[in-house]
Amino acid sequence: MGTPLHVSSVFRPGLFDDRVAIVTGGATGIGKGITKELLFLGCTVVIASRKADRLSDGAKEIRDWLANAGQKATLHVVQCNVRKEDEVKSLISTTVDRFGKLDFLINNGGGQFLSSTADIRLKGWNAVVETNLTGTFLLCREAYNQWMKDHGGAIVNMAMDMWKGYPYMGHSGAARAGVVNLTKTLGVEWAQSNVRVNAVAPGSSIFSPTAAANYGNASIFDGAKVNIPMKRTGTVEEVSSAVCFLLSPGAAFITGETIRIDGGQSFYITPNFRLPDSKPTDMYSWQSQFDKDAPHGSKSKL
Ligand code: ADE
Repeated sequence: MGTPLHVSSVFRPGLFDDRVAIVTGGATGIGKGITKELLFLGCTVVIASRKADRLSDGAKEIRDWLANAGQKATLHVVQCNVRKEDEVKSLISTTVDRFGKLDFLINNGGGQFLSSTADIRLKGWNAVVETNLTGTFLLCREAYNQWMKDHGGAIVNMAMDMWKGYPYMGHSGAARAGVVNLTKTLGVEWAQSNVRVNAVAPGSSIFSPTAAANYGNASIFDGAKVNIPMKRTGTVEEVSSAVCFLLSPGAAFITGETIRIDGGQSFYITPNFRLPDSKPTDMYSWQSQFDKDAPHGSKSKL
């Protein structure tokens, strides 16, 4: 059982009833948050990951939450290595065969490791680029060719705060910059098929237990606050809500766009003087805001 994850939504219940989504990397971290909000909004969700144990642990947690919250949405699990073309083809065809359609694709699955660029071996470079960039390309292409080309759809890709380069993550920075560019290209090429393609770029200070484990140390998040104009870390739910917005009819005229979710960090380039702390507010607090008027008994936490 992971750390409690509050699940609710600013969007209306039932917004994604009858919709079918694939979330790669949907069993952990930000991907798990996206999966839960989609389910909360009525979407059928297929989560895909390379690792069977991650998938089964994450699926169990999510199914327990679904049962506790009285939610009826469907969660399905498919093991898939996004680097393998045949496995990606099969993920899309399995989803379409089983659920009859594919409305949304969220290319969240990815990974990288810290290293000075001079020390990255070709094998490590290729693995990161294949997972983050080539995997995104393969999933987009197959979702489009197998379903969305004829039926429309919406895709959200995952970038990161690589706008000024990404020291010690040169492989991932380059791959995610490629994802931003691919998102623009596909947004234009596939507009004719009513397929919108957008991306989100979370800052490095989105706290989740998975991210803390990856960094090996949760205190790194506290140290980062000084460089974030909003003077706090972000939440998984704040990424998930942006993804849901991009999938929703509210974003019907948006394509090729990448939304930064980083508290202004990527725009903050003047550390010669320090910004004062922002005033405390609970305006954007999911806990306080949505517990009050959460629909159909959705106060459940894990
Ligand atoms: N998450 C991290 N690496 C992955 C991969 N190769 N396939 C699917 N999900 C992943």
